[in-house]
This record gives sequence, C-alpha cells and structure tokens, in this order.
Amino acid sequence: MDQIDLNLNAGETLGIVGESGCGKSTLARSLVGLVPVTKGSVEINGQDITRFNAAQWRALRRQVQFVFQDPLASLDPRMTIGQAIAEPMMSLSPEWGAAERQRRVAELLERVGLSSSLQNRYPHEFSGGQCQRVGIARALAVEPSILICDEPVSALDVSVQAQIVNLLRDLQRERGLSMLFIAHDLAVVRHLSDRIMVMYLGRMMEQANTDALFESPKHPYTRALLASIPRPGRPLPSDDERLVGELPSAAMRHPGCVFASRCPISEGMCAMQLPPVYRDTNGSAACHFIGGNAAMSSTVLSRSLQTPA
Ligand SMILES: Nc1ncnc2c1ncn2[C@@H]1O[C@H](COP(=O)(O)OP(=O)(O)OP(=O)(O)O)[C@@H](O)[C@H]1O
Ligand SMILES: [Mg+2]
Repeated sequence: MDQIDLNLNAGETLGIVGESGCGKSTLARSLVGLVPVTKGSVEINGQDITRFNAAQWRALRRQVQFVFQDPLASLDPRMTIGQAIAEPMMSLSPEWGAAERQRRVAELLERVGLSSSLQNRYPHEFSGGQCQRVGIARALAVEPSILICDEPVSALDVSVQAQIVNLLRDLQRERGLSMLFIAHDLAVVRHLSDRIMVMYLGRMMEQANTDALFESPKHPYTRALLASIPRPGRPLPSDDERLVGELPSAAMRHPGCVFASRCPISEGMCAMQLPPVYRDTNGSAACHFIGGNAAMSSTVLSRSLQTPA
C-alpha cells in the first residue's frame, strides 16, 4: 500500500471498493494493528496507533472491532458460538457479570437473525453465512464505536445480506457507529456508504461522496469498475470502458500511476510520473487528466470525460 490518505468521520460509513487483491483487507488490517505499518500513521481520535503499546491496544479494542472476511477461520473451533460471543465481553467489559453476558449473547444472536437456542453449537455446525452472522454478533458484543467490516456480507445469500445490511444501518442510526465497509458488491456499498474510496494495486484512485461517485465518476478506473456492473437491457461495456490486460505485479516499482498499463487514456508520462491528487467539493482523484490536472492534455481530456451510460 502506498499513497493512501483517508478519513473516517464519526457516525459515517466509508465504503472501500477495488478488484480482488488490490489490498482492501491489508488496509483494513493495518488500521487495527494486525498488519504492521512500515511508514505513515493511523490516528484514532488524534492518537497515532502505530506507536501504541500493549496496554494502549487493549483499551482501544473495546472501541474498534473487526468483522473478518473468512467467517469460519475467524472463529475458534473449540468454542461454542455462545462462548465466542461472550469472550470479548469477558476480557474487555469485565464489569458485565455472567448473567448480563448471557442476556447479551442471546440478544445479539437474535439481532443477527440466529436463534439464541443455537448458542451451544460449534462453528462447524453452521453454514458460512451463519458463521458470518456470529462474527458480526461477536464484533458488536462490546458496543464498539468503530466497526471495520471486511466483506461482511459476501458469504451471505441475498435475503440474509439485506437483513445484515439493514442491521448495520440501524446500528449506525441508533449508536452513531462509524464504519469502514469493504465489499466488492457495488450495490451494497452504495446502499450503506456516505463516501467511497476506490483502490487499485494498493493505492487510492478516487474518493468521493457516494452519489457523486456513481453519478459522475472522475477516475478512468472508477469508470471501468462502474461500467462492469451488469445491467439488464444495457449493452456490454465497450473496449474503452472495459478493463483489458492483466493486473501488474504489486512487487514491481511503479514510479507513476499504477493504473497506467490498463488505462484507456494513459499517455507515456503516466507510468513515469506520480499523478497529482485533484480535489473538489465532492472528493479527490489521483490522475494526470482530471480537473485542473487535465490542462496537461486537452486531447486526452476530450476522450476521457464521458460518463458511462
Ligand atoms: N500475509 C501475506 N503475505 C504476503 N502477501 C500477502 C499477504 N496477505 C495478502 N497478500 C497479498 O497482498 C495483496 C493484497 O491482498 P488483500 O488480501 O489485501 O486483497 P483484497 O483487496 O482484500 O482482495 P479480496 O477482494 O480478494 O479479499 C495480494 O496480492 C495478496 O496476495
Ligand atoms: Mg480481502
């Protein structure tokens, strides 16, 4: 990851989208200390967590919780799901006694659409979607103020997906929860997010308010991503809109724009020079040919700025 600059405001949902392997999970994990940050900072309420010691992390865990992408792997196979949900309460909210914990476990299970009578079962006795709901219940157990959700609904069928998305929305309204929401289903991200960040090969391509991003995407990568959403009655994306070629290796050095090799409007200098970040009231985008930056090439501009149908 490189050149990533983002804010998550209180009570807001920031969606993160991008192709598989672009670093969404790595970004999310680095925000909670599960991946070491080699350079840069991550501040929560003004404190740089990359410098935190064990005691400071412990205090933060109650505030920031994580829903993992792989639901089964994130649950301990030796614990019943009731124990799994009670565990963070025992270590982070010890003031709640056994009876209170028990009441909360039952309430959380019902809240994510699972019967509280299932709490003595083990993770392997559940489907992937059910385990994901247990993961969400566990993350909510200590009433965090920041929830980082890494593909929380990808393993769920549409009806359960809607239930969980609505649950997350309700929690946001009730508790002013701040959420970082990663998903590759753009419709779900649009439904939940106030703002969206688009990533490609470990870098930020564009960040914008949700409506602005969908209605007038600025970055050629965002356009390609939105054009790839299948819509009945709409022709398949043209060659200019479609992503062609292979994803370059993240291990290679990319002095310029990482999207240059697949970008329909790139010119020679794109791969050589780091694109400046263009900002307006709706957001920002890193491209040589956007807004004020576009003065560099008027011919390219006329080719590039067509909103996808
Ligand atoms: N532990 C690791 N060691 C080495 N490379 C890793 C590790 N975890 C992830 N990667 C690599 O880092 C890149 C980003 O992975 P990451 O899991 O963050 O992607 P992602 O955007 O979450 O993808 P997906 O949408 O498939 O979940 C990938 O190229 C991946 O192979
Ligand atoms: Mg991932």
